[in-house]
Amino acid sequence: MSQIGIVAEGPREKRVAATPATITKLIALGYDVVVEAGAGAASSFPDAAYAASGATVVSASEAWASMIVLKVDAPTPEEVARLADGATLIALLSPALRSDLVESLATREITAIALDAVPRISRAQSMDVLSSMANISGYRAVIEAANEFGRFFTGQVTAAGKVPPAKVLVAGAGVAGLAAIGAASSLGAIVRATDPRPEVADQVASIGGEYLEVVVPDEAKEVSTDGYAKATTAAYDRRAAEIYSEQAADVDIIITTALIPGRAAPRLITAADVARMKPGSVIVDMAAAQGGNVEGSVEGERVVTDNGVVILGFTDLPGRLPQQASQLFATNLVNLIKLLTPGKDGQLHLDFDDVVQRTVTVVRRGEVTWPPPPVQVSAAPQKTVAAPSVAAELKKPMSSRARGWLVAAGIAVLFAVCAFAPPPLPQHFLVLTLSVVVGFYVIGHVAHALHTPLMSVTNAISGIIIVGAMVQIMAPDLTVQILAAVGVLLASINIFGGFAVTRRMLAMFQKGQNR
Ligand code: NAI
Repeated sequence: MSQIGIVAEGPREKRVAATPATITKLIALGYDVVVEAGAGAASSFPDAAYAASGATVVSASEAWASMIVLKVDAPTPEEVARLADGATLIALLSPALRSDLVESLATREITAIALDAVPRISRAQSMDVLSSMANISGYRAVIEAANEFGRFFTGQVTAAGKVPPAKVLVAGAGVAGLAAIGAASSLGAIVRATDPRPEVADQVASIGGEYLEVVVPDEAKEVSTDGYAKATTAAYDRRAAEIYSEQAADVDIIITTALIPGRAAPRLITAADVARMKPGSVIVDMAAAQGGNVEGSVEGERVVTDNGVVILGFTDLPGRLPQQASQLFATNLVNLIKLLTPGKDGQLHLDFDDVVQRTVTVVRRGEVTWPPPPVQVSAAPQKTVAAPSVAAELKKPMSSRARGWLVAAGIAVLFAVCAFAPPPLPQHFLVLTLSVVVGFYVIGHVAHALHTPLMSVTNAISGIIIVGAMVQIMAPDLTVQILAAVGVLLASINIFGGFAVTRRMLAMFQKGQNR
């Protein structure tokens, strides 16, 4: 059984790598867990809570002597020296940017696992610390902006006059951007968003934002193959710059989150755009640590421009919600350790055939294993050059001539049926035809997400079967009575089941309900 040590962070880091709740899970995986005294204090997790969940609270040197050391921030050179021979360190190591750190880790007979290298694939989502932290940061960026902004986010009509809603522009609709859009729109602001990946348009709309498409020729667009954006083209950048310049003059708050992995942050908002903004406007440049999306932002600082615009370049946004950030971080970490402990026997096993384990391993027993082979996964539909399928042919819009012929043929069939069929068939046929037409137009205008609730509610129409069956249940023939009873039973299941499903689905859209 190996010992896991949770060590305290430096003075600027408020998060901690394990919470009392995750300690219990680590113990369930067969590990012995020790926590450095005071490690969770800044995240409001006292030593007593760790002890109550089964960990032993120890001194710093005892925690660092563990065979597995869990940490949030990358270790300092002194901390690397404190690791025991053969130990495994799991932390945020930024291996792509910190080759010095990777080399210094490889000077020791240790294994180093970078939590921030978890690939963005569905199977690894539960371990994706960067996404968890970006989600918190997007939310916090809005809170920081609201704190600086001198007005409401939501519009109001008061006795003292009408207050317009704040207008927020979010540049980059990845994880942080979507969290910012959601937070700003739930505060009541008008939110707009840009992103070179058109596939995010629906996501932006679903959380209350308006997607501002940068319209450029198709060949100037790039499709993501790994869940991250590719570099934008010059045509895209030119058109985007015009949009940013128009938006800067209109909006009150800009939150920038644009990132292309492995590159400096793209410069989106120029000094001229900032100069066009109204005094009192606020910009949060979330990419300040990567060089900034905004001209004039300073990493980690609050800057006020000559025209009274506040630019926040904070780089510690997750740490500004330390308890929440620690909870998500520690949960991601436990999920990774679960993957590395298949036997639940307190022993770490690294399997290099597994893409996640291979990708996160930066150093293995003193040997540098970074960079890993690239992981290909598409967040967007793959481009295919297959011959047009039957479905694609059917989807082609029909010419107005063909449509005219089809309508004429339909009307002719309808007349023929009405003229020659024996009564009451024409009547029923007319009702059927009208219901198909009405149904087509009604359902065609309902959002896809609401089709299931709509279908289950329309099940209630089968209530008419119950009425018919109940009339028949009084018939003298036993067979008819049995069939009627079965009809009542089945139609009731259909109706009540439909309502139960609808209720369950609608509950998913309600906030603050325990489900
Ligand atoms: P992400 O990769 O999920 O999202 C980045 C988005 O930017 C993508 O949707 C991408 O398509 C978009 N993008 C790329 N080029 C663009 C362009 N030219 N114009 C508009 N959009 C563009 O990344 P995530 O996780 O959302 O992080 C966003 C940024 O926030 C990163 O720079 C990250 O380092 C930073 N961050 C900052 C924190 C802080 O405390 N300040 C904390 C966490 C993340």
